[in-house]
Amino acid sequence: MALVQAIFEEYWPHWQHHFTPEARLRLGGVPLAALPARADIMQPGLASEYLSPDELEQWRGFNLEKRRAEWLGGRIAAKWAAAGLLGETAMTWRNLVIRTEAGGRPYVATETHAAPPFISISHSGPLAAALAANFPCGLDIQEPGAKIHTVRDRFVSPEEEDILSASLPESFTETERLTMLWAAKEAIRKMVRTTPLPGFLEIRLLANHAGCGTQADPLTLTFASNRDQDGCPPTITVLSFFADNLAWAMGCLPTRKE
Ligand SMILES: CC(C)(COP(=O)(O)OP(=O)(O)OC[C@H]1O[C@@H](n2cnc3c(N)ncnc32)[C@H](O)[C@@H]1OP(=O)(O)O)[C@@H](O)C(=O)NCCC(=O)NCCS
Repeated sequence: MALVQAIFEEYWPHWQHHFTPEARLRLGGVPLAALPARADIMQPGLASEYLSPDELEQWRGFNLEKRRAEWLGGRIAAKWAAAGLLGETAMTWRNLVIRTEAGGRPYVATETHAAPPFISISHSGPLAAALAANFPCGLDIQEPGAKIHTVRDRFVSPEEEDILSASLPESFTETERLTMLWAAKEAIRKMVRTTPLPGFLEIRLLANHAGCGTQADPLTLTFASNRDQDGCPPTITVLSFFADNLAWAMGCLPTRKE
């Protein structure tokens, strides 16, 4: 099986109308268990096939094996997704270089393409994933866990909980609902290009316009950004759903008016 996989490809025809018509997006994922050389810094093996010399240097600098695997998986997924939009062949996509801005936002550095795609990277549980798009984009995946309840007051208001409860079928647990909202807000924080990043309570859920939270029928959540500045639109919409025990949220700017 290929190391990097197209994710939810079959659903893009259903999703496309949620985005602005000019938007082109590609989503890829790398199961972390598929990274055989994840432990060994001295024999980077697979990592050196995908990383440039300076990326490899950075990868070697991470002390934790888990962090090395997530970082590598995210880089591989992002290169693959970006290359697809650039029309790069299978032979050349590994040569794309991913760098980060001072605040941590990743971007594709290339001298051969005038307008490389925007990218967004996320990792959680068993997966690293990346979204590439011709507009600024944000992706977040999040494995549900009890910890979300301990930070509840820091990211969700009673009004937002009401909107989510009314939008999702009762089969969704409270933990899953909260995790979906967390992921949606993280996707927005990655998407907007403001410094510093907006706080979780600054991004306010206004409404769900469609969907029931599955990949075939994702929620279409519209948020107020409360940062009507620096090119940040007053409202932002993301798609959000639960699949394979992960909450997924993604979007790109400009978002389509609901
Ligand atoms: C990065 C952040 C937005 C999301 O992280 P998370 O949900 O915990 O973790 P995820 O796995 O979903 O995402 C991590 C990825 O987000 C990306 N990322 C990091 N900072 C980012 C930013 N400012 N904007 C967009 N994407 C960012 C990175 O690609 C990172 O993966 P990598 O380090 O392996 O390349 C969150 O951790 C955060 O708020 N960090 C603080 C960033 C900040 O305020 N920086 C200012 C310093 S001046």
